[in-house]
Amino acid sequence: MYKVLITRKLPGKWVHELSQEAEVELWEEDYPPPKSWIISRVADKEGILVTLTERVDREIIDSAKRLKVISTYSVGVDHIDVAYAKERNIKVTYTPEVLTDATADLIFGLLIAVARRIVEGDKVIRAGQWSLPWFPTYMLGKEVNHSTLGILGMGRIGQAVLKRAKGFDMRVIYHSRKRHEVEAEFVDLDTLLRESDFLVVTVDLNKETYHLLDYEKLSKLKRTAFLINASRGAVINQQDLVKILKENKIAGAALDVFEKEPIDKDDPLIQFPNVVLTPHLGSATVETRERMAEIAVKNLILSLKGERPLYEVT
Ligand code: GLV
Ligand code: GLV
Repeated sequence: MYKVLITRKLPGKWVHELSQEAEVELWEEDYPPPKSWIISRVADKEGILVTLTERVDREIIDSAKRLKVISTYSVGVDHIDVAYAKERNIKVTYTPEVLTDATADLIFGLLIAVARRIVEGDKVIRAGQWSLPWFPTYMLGKEVNHSTLGILGMGRIGQAVLKRAKGFDMRVIYHSRKRHEVEAEFVDLDTLLRESDFLVVTVDLNKETYHLLDYEKLSKLKRTAFLINASRGAVINQQDLVKILKENKIAGAALDVFEKEPIDKDDPLIQFPNVVLTPHLGSATVETRERMAEIAVKNLILSLKGERPLYEVT
């Protein structure tokens, strides 16, 4: 039997299925295992299944002498030293596609929530501060329909956001590494920043995108613009974003991801009523998280058998 390490319990039957074909060692807690736990157990493993909170670096890869596959339960792979794994002839597999729609749904939810002040309104009511009957200028937000949506990155998730935006009659512009055959106008980054009413970040995190949106770039956004990010926190320089918000240089932000997760209880972002915050929930639906388990387990087994996994990072 193959020997496999899994760093988190996964929803559904898939880890059980895997245990029919492999000897599974599983971290049972909901918080990430310490690195030392992984290192002390990985030496004889042929496969490891990790989540995005486990940094799979050289040290871990070097401790895993028999490793054939690193299967991550995520679409992002920024937590894995993919180049080094390749060098060591270890396959890296991931779970794109199954989480695309769930993530695009959340992005749209965040966009509407921040534009129409949904979270702020909820807080007003719960705080007992809804004191006047309806009046014409109370808590006005920004119209979503027919406004301009800028999408940074036009991969699967960007395209799913685009599809939703069409239903809202938005004008959509985008910028990405390459042009795509989509019903949206390709523009340079500068134009994207200057013209977007809503800027949605869907690029993955890598050397080129780390802190891509810094003070200088964010300053180019309209004062009336909203920034929405559900990719990786570090694509935005978070300190710079706080500065931009303090200076009222944008209208607001909706963030599902942060440079450090969880964010601190006294994080400066928490003070802004025009910022909507969610705790990294992009793919967090019952259906999607089970399908991610299925894909991650199948990727692992297929790779161990020397067959082609469903999704390999290339
Ligand atoms: C979520 O952030 C993922 O990478 O799957
Ligand atoms: C709002 O509730 C309206 O009736 O215009």
